[in-house]
Amino acid sequence: MKLEGKVALVTGAGRGIGRAIAVKLAGEGARVVVNDMDEGPARETLDAVRAAGGLATACVGSVTEAGFAERFVATALDTYDGLDIIVNNAGFTWDGVIQKMTDEQFQAVLDVHVTAPFRILRAAAEPIRRLAKEEAASGREVFRKVVNISSVSGLGGNAGQINYAAGKAAVVGMTKTLAKEWGRYKVNVNCVAFGFIQTRMTQPLDISTAPVQVAGREIRYGVQPAQIEALETQQIPLGRLGTVEEAANGVYLFCIPESDYISGQVITVGGGIRF
Ligand SMILES: NC(=O)c1ccc[n+]([C@@H]2O[C@H](COP(=O)([O-])OP(=O)(O)OC[C@H]3O[C@@H](n4cnc5c(N)ncnc54)[C@H](O)[C@@H]3O)[C@@H](O)[C@H]2O)c1
Repeated sequence: MKLEGKVALVTGAGRGIGRAIAVKLAGEGARVVVNDMDEGPARETLDAVRAAGGLATACVGSVTEAGFAERFVATALDTYDGLDIIVNNAGFTWDGVIQKMTDEQFQAVLDVHVTAPFRILRAAAEPIRRLAKEEAASGREVFRKVVNISSVSGLGGNAGQINYAAGKAAVVGMTKTLAKEWGRYKVNVNCVAFGFIQTRMTQPLDISTAPVQVAGREIRYGVQPAQIEALETQQIPLGRLGTVEEAANGVYLFCIPESDYISGQVITVGGGIRF
């Protein structure tokens, strides 16, 4: 139990990778604040954590709502009296080639992937500074962890995702900047960029695939089967898409004491994907 006594906040933890992160961190002893904008899935994650013997509470709402960041941080402090790990995972894609992409489409994707993590980290700044000062005054070195989620789209670009690639590239800049600002508070700020992980986002796309409701919008998620085959046979040396558990394991590496002297870094969790 490497995370015994820690308090972790995970956004977008109602499904997919975020749920696997919440379950993994709780399984290692952390108490988890589970966020999702969809209440039902958030509750299912709580059930999964509790069924495995872990502790979790929900903070339902969109990370883009005004005041959400402060409410999220307060939930951790009020419920579990701590703030040790923040995983900025919530997100969605809304693809289109540049000539067809609307301002709304571009901005909505930046809002969720860039502005929301910025606000959450800003809301956490004051409590983290206070806790770090108390710990320093008592001669203790306590490391906190921020793990921001990026994508190979942000590192290498991806046709049809100018909004998402811009957002996920910005996440890297934010990570490196905050690593420099928060080193003095003993916060490790790192980034995990996923390749292709099996979730609804990367389901095989065909004519019968139903659109997904995201924040009141109908979005057609998925990857063309021919592209999945090309990925598995040519672009991913390990020969397949990743599981959500494998994705969560990458995040976990940045949450454990063994990574206490690593900050400002980006690792790709993608089976060696070339991008
Ligand atoms: N699946 C992949 O291959 C892949 C690759 C690279 C990066 N990522 C990133 O990993 C993260 C998780 O993706 P996933 O594949 O698990 O997707 P998913 O759709 O399975 O899960 C994302 C969860 O985030 C929630 N969410 C979306 N917008 C939100 C908002 N505004 N406020 C609160 N919750 C919100 C959704 O309701 C959903 O439960 C995202 O940041 C995504 O961009 C995924």
